[in-house]
Amino acid sequence: MSSSQQTINAKQRAALAAASLVRSGMIVGLGTGTTATLIIRALGDRIADDGLKFLAVPTSAETAELASSLSIPLRELDDVDTVDINLDGADEIDFEFRMIKGRGGALLREKIIVTAAKWRVTVITEDKRVTKLGLNAPIPVEVSPVGSRHTRRRLEALGASAILRVRSDGEPVITDGGNRIIDCRFQEDLEPNSLNATLKQVVGVFETGLFLGLCDLLIVGTGDGIEQLENPSSEWK
Ligand code: 5RP
Repeated sequence: MSSSQQTINAKQRAALAAASLVRSGMIVGLGTGTTATLIIRALGDRIADDGLKFLAVPTSAETAELASSLSIPLRELDDVDTVDINLDGADEIDFEFRMIKGRGGALLREKIIVTAAKWRVTVITEDKRVTKLGLNAPIPVEVSPVGSRHTRRRLEALGASAILRVRSDGEPVITDGGNRIIDCRFQEDLEPNSLNATLKQVVGVFETGLFLGLCDLLIVGTGDGIEQLENPSSEWK
């Protein structure tokens, strides 16, 4: 079996484990991306096969469209008082359960929804576990479309290589909220909490892809199974 097929199988196993955590009556935050897609499909199967009943809060238009097509009833975040469980992927996660997210461009809505959730579950394959964040994946930063060139310069002044994310036709990626994404890489080894605070102070920045303290349970799809790791610093119980 090729290594890419092994990764797909591992991701599928982890997604099924995540979907099995949902119980009837829950309000479920649904992430965005290829892993979230597998989770949402598995939840669709549970609705069809077992009559599972839950409400979902989608983190993107793409997720909302897929969930609707699978008869998953949707609500906006402000229509619910709480989110019982959030299920999402990540680009990288370190051994302190700190993550980089946003390669799929949904980071602002994802961060708002996961922050409202009681139990935050992240689903990855082994290759996304890192000792240090940001060495491979850039840190996406969602910025206002107004003056995004100037915001980019301000990010560069902090020492970032900052690249406006563009589509294949060269036009800027526009998020569901109508914003832009700037992918940042830092040469210097920066501590994630202080880097996040610094980035959030830049005028024009709405949110960063550093998701810190937002993972209670990590489900890792491995070569031959899954691993479930509880965050010892988490207070969700
Ligand atoms: C989208 C995200 C995704 O969760 C992240 O990019 C992981 O995606 P995938 O499951 O496709 O690897 O943050 O904004």
